[in-house]
Amino acid sequence: MTLAIMSAMPEENASLVQSMTVDSSTKIGQRTYFQGQLWGQSVVVVFSRWGKVAAASTAVTLIERFKASEIIFVGVAGAIDPELTIGDVVIGNNFYQHDLDARPMLARHEIPLIGVTSIESDSQRRNELLRAAILFAQQQIRQEVPADVLKQYSLNSPQVVEGGIASGDQFISNASDAMELKQRLPDVVCVEMEGASVAQVCLEHETPFSVLRVISDSANSEADINFQSFVQDVARIYSCQILKNMFEGV
Ligand code: ADE
Repeated sequence: MTLAIMSAMPEENASLVQSMTVDSSTKIGQRTYFQGQLWGQSVVVVFSRWGKVAAASTAVTLIERFKASEIIFVGVAGAIDPELTIGDVVIGNNFYQHDLDARPMLARHEIPLIGVTSIESDSQRRNELLRAAILFAQQQIRQEVPADVLKQYSLNSPQVVEGGIASGDQFISNASDAMELKQRLPDVVCVEMEGASVAQVCLEHETPFSVLRVISDSANSEADINFQSFVQDVARIYSCQILKNMFEGV
């Protein structure tokens, strides 16, 4: 059983690779796939690059070439639920491609020939990720994230929620676009650019998948300012520790 971990940012991928015992690395299609052991688990770890096409092609390679039995995606996301703030954690349950629109032939967001508008992640893994993230947010964050970084981003006691995720080939950095999306897809709590495409590939290949996202911005006009430094200083620490908790069976 090989578990694949995809991350949308090179910093997150680098932290995971540093924690691994790497047996081999293979270059395919401008990506490097690292195979080895991570906290007692056989894994293949890769930086997916950005956007739905990049993520989908990486997911296919993971399944076809590396025989991944499951995919976990980690990354950051923009909040569109007003209850969420920077540093909160979202474990995705239902995944929508918010830019998929074949009307009038199909309903808005319907995936052609699959006939659904959203895809659900693996419920068991989702629960494990929720438990692992709650342990991190409630007990470990102060040891893992430096005090000045906690203060800089006002990371007091992050929320951990389960919710819908919408993916599209757009970085949302406009409050009115974010609000319109929330009205159109009310169960969606955050936006990113990969999860739903991995969901579609996994559905088509009968492979379980799950997605962990850390809120990096509020999909408004400040989104680009917060984004880069947040991943470097915070998100990679969250995702590594949450995955470690999960592998250790907390
Ligand atoms: N990933 C992180 N923030 C995002 C945003 N605002 N829009 C799309 N993807 C994101």
